[in-house]
Amino acid sequence: MTGPVLAIETSCDETAAAVLTQTADASRPWAILSSVVASQAEIHRGWGGVVPELASRQHVRDICGVVDAALEKAKVSSADISCVAVTQGPGLVGSLLVGVAFAKSFAWARGLPVIPVHHLAGHIESLVLAHGELPLPSAVLVVSGGHTSLYYIPEAGRYQLVGRTRDDAAGEAYDKVAKLLGLGYPGGPAIDKVARAGNDRAYGFPTARLTHADRNAPQPTAPPGMLPDEVARRVDFSFSGLKTAVSRLVRELTGAPPEGTAADGAVLRAARDGGQAPAAALSPQQIADIAASFQRVVVSALLDRTFEAARWLGARSVGISGGVSANSRLRRDAESRAAKYGIPVFVPPLSLSTDNAAMIGAAALRKMERGTSGDYGFNAEAALVL
Ligand code: KG4
Ligand code: ZN
Repeated sequence: MTGPVLAIETSCDETAAAVLTQTADASRPWAILSSVVASQAEIHRGWGGVVPELASRQHVRDICGVVDAALEKAKVSSADISCVAVTQGPGLVGSLLVGVAFAKSFAWARGLPVIPVHHLAGHIESLVLAHGELPLPSAVLVVSGGHTSLYYIPEAGRYQLVGRTRDDAAGEAYDKVAKLLGLGYPGGPAIDKVARAGNDRAYGFPTARLTHADRNAPQPTAPPGMLPDEVARRVDFSFSGLKTAVSRLVRELTGAPPEGTAADGAVLRAARDGGQAPAAALSPQQIADIAASFQRVVVSALLDRTFEAARWLGARSVGISGGVSANSRLRRDAESRAAKYGIPVFVPPLSLSTDNAAMIGAAALRKMERGTSGDYGFNAEAALVL
């Protein structure tokens, strides 16, 4: 490969483009020439979450301008680009389609190859983009709005899933709890902020433990033999019970009727028609305490499992990436865990934690290094597996 790569990411509610090049340094193989992100958060905030139809329409409006801005910032022209990388999935299919259609047309018009990229491979490679090659083998936790997945990386570019959430992703739990507390969308940064003023021991929320006694006895995610059986089961995550516990507490503290009852329906209708939502009856201190207590449980659940698995796997490094890796408590606690276990931890800078296209370019360069030459015979896939 000679010229720069143009990378495009449109899997959810950010329209992003970046230009990357290879370097001559094998330990820091890629450099970012530009990375532009147009966030749609303002558009979706009023709805309390991402509205897929609005998201795809906004991607259509923004994609050309975002790509132009990325080329301009990188000081390259479209004629200099040697290949195009694009997120194939997983994500909102209407959003993904905009990026995939744009990438294919841009590349087709110039006779360039297109490299389809898995969004989570992008989050994993964001660590290499920021820190250079990780000491391998590595255990990398990808923790985002749609995923909580732990990968074992025996060699660069090989990702083996060893743990994942059984229900909600950690970011989803953040977003739902923020909604319960009246903190708005996106919820992760809002909880991160108010939790700083809270007492993280004020409320004792449960930490889910999945054991063989689970009623539907799920098989562990890790391939057989990779981890001892009871460790393999413990490495899966679960956050929906925690969200329910927060919901119950909010109702108890505010005197709101139990969820699903007729009286509850009346409160929700009143809130919709301009009345106050249950969270409005909470004091700022109560909101801060609930946020801090919730965050303590989420962060320790993530770190307990990741570091326990890393030790069993003989990992020489731990990586944590994806939107939730922007969380200040997770970053701080990860450092102390790393010191305790004697395994170094790597987290991307904030600009590479949440969705961006630079990480998609990095994952494409990794695929090319492993022999992928690109094709046009792929389509957007909402539920792509890594
Ligand atoms: O990776 P990402 O940008 O998009 C997906 O691939 O899903 O992750 C978005 C998620 C959202 O759930 C958001 O609330 C969460 O990351 N997030 C945070 C923080 N910043 C973003 N969660 C906790 N603390 C933060 N500071
Ligand atoms: Zn993401």
